[in-house]
Formats: sequence, structure tokens, C-alpha cells
Amino acid sequence: MRDTYTEFANTGLGRKLTTSLGLPQPAKLRRYRPDAPLVEGPVVVVGESATSDRIAEVMLGWGLDVRRHLGPREKAAAVVAAFDTISSPAQLSADVLAVGGLLKQLRSSARVITVFRDPQQAEDPGVRAARKGVEGMTRSLAHEMRAGGTANGIVLQNDLDAAAPGFAGALRFLLSGRSAFVSGQFISVGSVNGALPEDWSTPLQGQVAVVTGAARGIGAAIAKTLRRDGAEVIAVDIPAAGEHLAAVANEISGTALQLDITAEDAGERILTHAEQHYGRLDIVVHNAGITRDKLLANMDASRWDSVIAVNIESQLRMNRAFLASELFNRAEATVGPRIVSLASTSGIAGNRGQTNYAASKSGVIGMVSATSAQLQARHGTINAVAPGFIETEMTAKIPLVTREVARRLNSLNQGGLPEDVAETIAFLASPAAGGTSGLTLRVCGQNLVGA
Ligand code: NAI
Repeated sequence: MRDTYTEFANTGLGRKLTTSLGLPQPAKLRRYRPDAPLVEGPVVVVGESATSDRIAEVMLGWGLDVRRHLGPREKAAAVVAAFDTISSPAQLSADVLAVGGLLKQLRSSARVITVFRDPQQAEDPGVRAARKGVEGMTRSLAHEMRAGGTANGIVLQNDLDAAAPGFAGALRFLLSGRSAFVSGQFISVGSVNGALPEDWSTPLQGQVAVVTGAARGIGAAIAKTLRRDGAEVIAVDIPAAGEHLAAVANEISGTALQLDITAEDAGERILTHAEQHYGRLDIVVHNAGITRDKLLANMDASRWDSVIAVNIESQLRMNRAFLASELFNRAEATVGPRIVSLASTSGIAGNRGQTNYAASKSGVIGMVSATSAQLQARHGTINAVAPGFIETEMTAKIPLVTREVARRLNSLNQGGLPEDVAETIAFLASPAAGGTSGLTLRVCGQNLVGA
């Protein structure tokens, strides 16, 4: 689905008109391309701590132009600010204002990334207040970013060091065009698990992934993105979508498996297919999902039950099969297995007409946080991604005015693309995201309403 308003707003005339009429000015977002630089321009590190030094070292290792200061006429591509040693709200001032002083010198699609320790893990009220303060400041700053810029945070759990692979993985994701539609969000890094790839353009090299609901929409984008990142992909969808499924599988030199995921033995059938074709299974993406919207007063059992069955019960059942299988939990694997599931901002904020859908997607968020402990024994991870308004066939059917309102009501004033969701999933599926588990990460351009 094309967003003609955004296209127009990015022409010379469009820019003039939208400015003079005070209309939203959605920027053309910087999206990931394997051949493009990670960021184009200097990256300024703010903060004086061992962590800020380590952050600078990591980024220098990637060949970035890392600075402590900017010249008066220079423009930064990103600002990374370390607040990890903060112990009272009064201490926020100097570094927050240093970040503020850089905001007028940012390029388009710039990144501001704050790094701090988990507020919940501070017993002292002043320390917890200071850490929560960084969170609040980051969220508000995300609303203030312009020209496609975003602000996000990385939360270090316990006394985790910025040398952990999971930290570098999260930092790189947030700096890159992969996180184009992620803003006002926080990525927790909680363990030293994970590994950095030899080649950052193919982080999934040698891995085998299954994607459900891969025949179209977001699922097809996920399958293509995982393939681009080096994985072999098993594309799953219902038999009725067989033709489209085959087309996707052919395009990515993968294999197609026609399967209704609500079948009792769906997990076992995926495992058998993976064993026969690849001899392994490393990544599971639970993408297939349906909506059957009705106000609760008019809801019937068929609408309620089908949504719960496809969107959450099937995932719980398949996960039991995967977790019990040697194929998915290979003892000799150097990187643990990955599960990434599709939630929705409806599952966080709720949505009129979607009690069934929101129940299923909140269920996904609960399932993910509870399953995390089970995967830890194998250094595996499970996370969810909650998309906001994404330009798909589903959202193209929303009536024009409602669609325009829903599409613009986020900090980036535009809908996301299926690729934006896919990039976030590819990151969470990667070895470098090994320190992050049990998380639900929103890909919503920082929705202005709801959660
Ligand atoms: P879509 O309707 O375009 O594609 C879903 C795919 O899943 C279809 O190919 C369908 O055949 C397949 N599928 C449905 N039931 C199945 C079953 N029982 N077994 C196997 N495959 C099945 O949906 P879209 O928009 O691509 O969404 C993908 C996921 O993202 C869903 O989980 C959805 O809830 C979620 N999502 C989408 C948003 C959006 O804006 N499009 C926003 C938030 C979440």
C-alpha cells in the first residue's frame, strides 16, 4: 500500500505546502541496505564512565567516526549517551543538557540512544528514580525528534558490562536503518549470551528458520529478510495460500510447508520437515495471525475461539514440541535457539472491536515472558515484536479517514512497512541478540495513543 501523502510531503512543493499549513511532515526514513554504511556521519558519545569509553571502543571497531564533541558547523548522525552510573535525579542535568545541545546539529534519520541500568534492580529510591528519569526523558525526546530521527534506550541488567555481545548487537540495531520505525523503546540486555557475527551483513549464515504465515504480508517480508541475512527458510502457510507460499519459497530458494498451525501435530510436522530438508532448526518465527473483529456485545464463539486458536493456542502447543526436541535444542549448537512471536500494540493498549485479538496478543506477551526461563538453559531466547500501523493488505482495507488518522498518529507521522517489522525480527533472531529475552519490542513509530 502506497502512502501518497508522505511521497508528496517529500517533494519541494509538498514541503512548502505542509509547512505553511502546519500539516504533518513525515520524513523519508533511512532504511537498512546491506551495502550502505551503518550510519553516515559522526557519532557523538556523551557521558564520562567506563561504559561510555567501552561504547566508543565498540563503535570505533566498526569504523565509525566517533567523537566527544562536534564542531559548530558539523552534523551528527547519532548521539549515544551513557547514564549507567547515575545515582540521583539531580545528576541527570549535565549529560541530558549535553544531549539537548546536540539536537539542532543532527542529520535526518538521526539516532539518540541512551544507555542506563535497569530501574527495577535498584533498591535505593533515589537510584531507581534517577534510572526511571532516563526512561522518561528518552520517551519524551523520541516525541521531539525531527526528520525521521528516533530516540531509544538500552537497559543493562544487573552489573552487565557494555562489552557483552548482546550490548553491541542492540547498539548496532538501534544505530542502523534496521530500526527505522522503532522509537521511544527500550531493549533490555540481561546476559552475556550471544555471539557477534563474522560478517554483519549475513548474521544468520548457516541457520535454519521457520516462518509461519509466510505467503504474504509481514510473513513474506520476514522470510525474505531472514534469507537476505543468510538463513535457510521454511515458509509455512495454509493450503489455500499454497500458490503464494510456493512463490515466496521459490524467490528465497527456501522450502514450502503447507500446514494449518492449529493442527495438533503442527510443531511435530515442522520439526520433521526441518529434519528431512536441513537436519536442524534454529529460529522459529510465529507470524501467522488472524483478526475477527466485533464489539464484545456482538461477539460469537466462532470469532472468539478462532482468533485464540490461531494467534496463541497454536504457538503454545508448537513451542512445547520445539522445546522438547533435540533438533531445536542441539547440545552442540554454539548459539542457542531463537523464537520470535508477533504481538500487536492492540495487545498492549487495547483496541475497540478487538477484545478477542487483544486477548490473544496480550497472551503472546505473557507467553514470551514465561517461556524465557525455559530457553535459558540452552542459551536460547524468546521475544515478541508488537507492530503498530503497518502498510499491509489488512490496513489498506480500513476506511480512508480512519486509516489516515491511524497512520499519522505516531512520532514519525507515517505507517511502518512490513520490512520494518521483519528487520526487528531478524535482529531478535540473530546470535548478537543473545542477551535479550522475554521482551516485547514495539515497532510502531511511537504511537501517540494507547500504550
Ligand atoms: P496477513 O493476513 O496479511 O497474513 C497472515 C498470514 O497468516 C496469511 O498468509 C494467512 O494465510 C496465514 N495464516 C492465517 N491463519 C493460519 C493458520 N491457521 N495456519 C497457517 N497460516 C495461517 O497478516 P499481516 O498483516 O501480514 O500480519 C502478520 C502478523 O502480524 C499477524 O500475527 C498480525 O496479527 C500481526 N500484526 C499485524 C499488523 C498490521 O498492521 N498488519 C499490526 C500488528 C500485528
